[in-house]
Amino acid sequence: MRVFLTGGAGYIGSHTLLEVLSEAHEVCVYDDFSNSAPEALARVEQLTNRKFLAVTGNILDQMLVAKALVEFQPDVVVHFAGKKAVGESVAKPLMYYENNVVGTLSLLRGMEAAGCRRIVFSSSATVYGNPQYLPLDENHPLSATNPYGQTKLMVEHILRDWCATQLDASAVLLRYFNPVGAHDSGKIGEDPHDIPNNLMPFVSQVAVGRRKKLQVFGGDYNTSDGTGVRDYIHVVDLAKAHAAAISFAETHTGCEAINVGTGQGASVLDVVAAFEAASGRSVPNEMVERRPGDVAACYADASKAQNLLGWQATRDLADMCKTAWKWQSQNPNGYQG
Ligand code: WQD
Repeated sequence: MRVFLTGGAGYIGSHTLLEVLSEAHEVCVYDDFSNSAPEALARVEQLTNRKFLAVTGNILDQMLVAKALVEFQPDVVVHFAGKKAVGESVAKPLMYYENNVVGTLSLLRGMEAAGCRRIVFSSSATVYGNPQYLPLDENHPLSATNPYGQTKLMVEHILRDWCATQLDASAVLLRYFNPVGAHDSGKIGEDPHDIPNNLMPFVSQVAVGRRKKLQVFGGDYNTSDGTGVRDYIHVVDLAKAHAAAISFAETHTGCEAINVGTGQGASVLDVVAAFEAASGRSVPNEMVERRPGDVAACYADASKAQNLLGWQATRDLADMCKTAWKWQSQNPNGYQG
């Protein structure tokens, strides 16, 4: 199959690119490198020994994205390109609505020009808002507690309506829980461009000495140890879920939302302990106030992915920390060398 990856040089995009190339698909990556590095693509090419096309472009450049799609003629598009920092979205909502929502409309226009009617979308468990029950299944009510979450919810609605206009269209909305870890080689991984918002890259940077101390946001939640509980999923498992979703989109029509998580929750202190065990380094930390907008616990009912995609997560928290540490320790400054 011919697969077009927007944001294919990013953290999840580059791991999915590697999986898709390993399955001998023809691939075109479309990325503006605003939150990724060309070096990631070079390393995927080295790891797979496979060639692929790469177009440098912004998803909002409707002419360019349409030209790339018409020339490549994809069977399916995997849409990663978008902004994803919750805090930044609160500070700069218009940038998020423009990039994530208008950007998706620009992509869909280009897909129509190219006659491509299959898309796999990078959605997020954030569309569930504050959990009303756990584990979260795909029937849980949808709501957003921040502009980032709103953009994911809006794009889900756009894709559902887009699908309804064409009998042969397919949209798979993958609702990620908390992606962490790195490829076993340690050559590709998460490389946040400024202070990490997320737990695992921050812990990793403390362990390698780039940051002094981890602030644990809240120790008074109604959880096993008082700290926030999340469903961390290995990025390689997540990449394999995308490969399975591509196959599903090829043989099915309609719009399906699917959770991509392990179904297991882990607390902040669980992650710290697992990372210290995996790295042999200490992770100094201090308990501080809760972070506004955080929920106590969030983890998936991942049975629909098993039933529809034949996919389930296989890698545990220890492996997530081990691979995250291998990437970080081999690349202390990420792709900047
Ligand atoms: C995890 C836990 C924090 C940092 C967000 C987005 C979600 C997805 C993943 C994009 C929480 C605690 C964190 C720190 C801490 N992003 N924490 N100290 O908030 O569950 O999800 O990222 O798709 O859409 O909402 O992930 O890694 O930020 O936080 O104590 O320095 O770690 O309070 O309990 P989150 P996170």
